[in-house]
Amino acid sequence: MRLGIFGTGYAGLVTSVCLAQLGHTVTAMDTDAGIVARLSQGLVTIHEPGLAELLGANLDAGRIRFTTRAEEAIAGSDIIFVCVGTPPRSDGRADLCQVEEVARTIAQQLDGYKLIVEKSTVPARTARWITWTIRRLAGPEHEFDVASNPEFLREGSAVHDFMRPDRIVIGADSQRARSLLLDLYKPSFECPIVVTSVTTAEFIKQTANAFLAAKISFINVMSDLCEALGVDVRTVAQSIGMDPRIGADFLNAGLGFGGACLPKDLSALISVAEENGVDIRMLQEVERINSARVDRLLTKIERALWIVRHKVVAVLGVSFKGNTDDIRGAPSLTVVPRLHDAGASLRIYDPAAMPKLQAMYPPDDRLVYAESAMDAARDANALVILTDWEEFRRLDLDRLRSVMRSPIIIDGRNLFRPAQLEAAGFEYYSLGRGDVTPGSNGHRGST
Ligand SMILES: NC(=O)c1ccc[n+]([C@@H]2O[C@H](COP(=O)([O-])OP(=O)(O)OC[C@H]3O[C@@H](n4cnc5c(N)ncnc54)[C@H](O)[C@@H]3O)[C@@H](O)[C@H]2O)c1
Repeated sequence: MRLGIFGTGYAGLVTSVCLAQLGHTVTAMDTDAGIVARLSQGLVTIHEPGLAELLGANLDAGRIRFTTRAEEAIAGSDIIFVCVGTPPRSDGRADLCQVEEVARTIAQQLDGYKLIVEKSTVPARTARWITWTIRRLAGPEHEFDVASNPEFLREGSAVHDFMRPDRIVIGADSQRARSLLLDLYKPSFECPIVVTSVTTAEFIKQTANAFLAAKISFINVMSDLCEALGVDVRTVAQSIGMDPRIGADFLNAGLGFGGACLPKDLSALISVAEENGVDIRMLQEVERINSARVDRLLTKIERALWIVRHKVVAVLGVSFKGNTDDIRGAPSLTVVPRLHDAGASLRIYDPAAMPKLQAMYPPDDRLVYAESAMDAARDANALVILTDWEEFRRLDLDRLRSVMRSPIIIDGRNLFRPAQLEAAGFEYYSLGRGDVTPGSNGHRGST
């Protein structure tokens, strides 16, 4: 099929490249000329495992091209995917300006029947606004449908998730739209395909993200209780996760959820509930619990160092999770300025995301971007882990201890076992397990 894609950010680029890999002819449009220029040369604009290889192969095969000209993505396309951003407004609602702009652009260029598909995460009933916008501008003679096909990929494993989905959700209110989307996906995927109404599909995505957020906040509350009771939250999470009714994923206690999706999608859903007079306090609590996680870590840092001023603190991890360079909603955005304002000298390292933080916080005499985790740790009074990069888990602990001024680790992601770090000679503070402090003498509570 011939496909047009609007927006080549984290979701749109993966969607474009993977659909090309499935054999479709993709024209991907973005208003950012810099992004289009880089992608056209085969240079990926985001860090995502496997993406660079697929981009190169599909450019070479002539199955994908990038443009800033909307008409090229519309002309001749059977399906147009909308993958633009839906960031949060200051009042918590989803900002749908980019979606509306795409709708207006498409309305002006309709050249025969088009299926316009929301892939961006939008509040339920957004498709109605897209339909009305196009209908008003294009007039009654043009044929089109608006469908919803929410994207469930996870940054860090997005290519894998797109190519091996658990399920595909197709929200379509006309037979023509349903058939087109089934023709697109059915030959390539064996997973369940849920076919439903447009509004239901929009709401499935909002509900999925709200549930995942709730699961994370739930285990984080249990984690605080585990600490109070002298119980290890990881053992509790593993055990309850063996129950298929609960499931093992998204039960990692720590700094909570971040990124560009869960926080904004949760607050957008809360706004929808409020507008509809539905009691949504449960999800407001999920949000509140999540926003307190970073404060809990900062309290641990103070507990470990007493006075932060004039201390050298190594910060490992800038992205909101491992395997991505995305820093939207990342704990680093709170922790770095708070420690800097408190007078600490920061030595920061991340395998992929440092340029993005550096653009916001340029280096100064108390803020250094290091070349490696070991380099960041050199002469540090403490090391703070903010992201679950695999390379941090594999650090050589003996060497780490030898380069640090004092062997203190505050781990926001529970990458290590307390007993392991105690044996390696560290003071170790984590979330939801007993801390290894100078006075703990091996009595950290049960596992
Ligand atoms: N990031 C993810 O992992 C993920 C996963 C599932 C769903 N989503 C959803 O996908 C949507 C996009 O998210 P993202 O993280 O890719 O955002 P992003 O900010 O990385 O990308 C948005 C892109 O759209 C471009 N754009 C803006 N206005 C445009 C226009 N009028 N025409 C063409 N391009 C335009 C921007 O230049 C940018 O490159 C959001 O609704 C998000 O919730 C994202």
